[in-house]
Amino acid sequence: MLCVELLQLKEIYTMATAKTKKQPETTPNVEESALKELFVDELKDIYWAEKHLSKALVKLAKAATSDELRAALETHKAETDNQITRLEQVFELVEEKAVAKKCDAMDGLIKESEGIVEDTEDGSITRDVGIISAAQKSEHYEIASYGTLRTLANTLGYTEAAQLLDETLAEEKKTDELLTQLAESSINSGAKTEKA
Ligand SMILES: [Fe+2]
Ligand SMILES: [Fe+2]
Repeated sequence: MLCVELLQLKEIYTMATAKTKKQPETTPNVEESALKELFVDELKDIYWAEKHLSKALVKLAKAATSDELRAALETHKAETDNQITRLEQVFELVEEKAVAKKCDAMDGLIKESEGIVEDTEDGSITRDVGIISAAQKSEHYEIASYGTLRTLANTLGYTEAAQLLDETLAEEKKTDELLTQLAESSINSGAKTEKA
């Protein structure tokens, strides 16, 4: 009889511990939360992305045909370097070391942009259409990342960090709009009759 009771007790204990293991611990301390960990992980991802994008923008500007596109890419390269510094300030504000973690998405987008330059004629407007397409894909990745990071910073109570992330988000959106304007005002139509 005692043996049966012990077995039942063991079963109840196993079920109870299995249940608690599945549920994440809640902690009143944001610094030790899983959300903070996720937030910092995303920061490391975009830090890597910005550093590599900065180099890629130099290459794209050199490859561009039109002066307007080259100027837009050079301006955004300077902005990107400032965004890297801003990210370092964010790391400091949340008391974490600024470490870059490979961003597979940006790595792929940069490789795609290099492929577009290789596959298009030097000095052609068609190349500019391709560069704008590649650059906008990167901008959209950044817009999604900074939107999430800004919101998470607010959720975690990092108001100052959220403001910095919001400044970058605004720059990324502005760049995306500028690229659309360039494509729609002259570049797309200029490429329309170019020979393949
Ligand atoms: Fe950026
Ligand atoms: Fe950007």
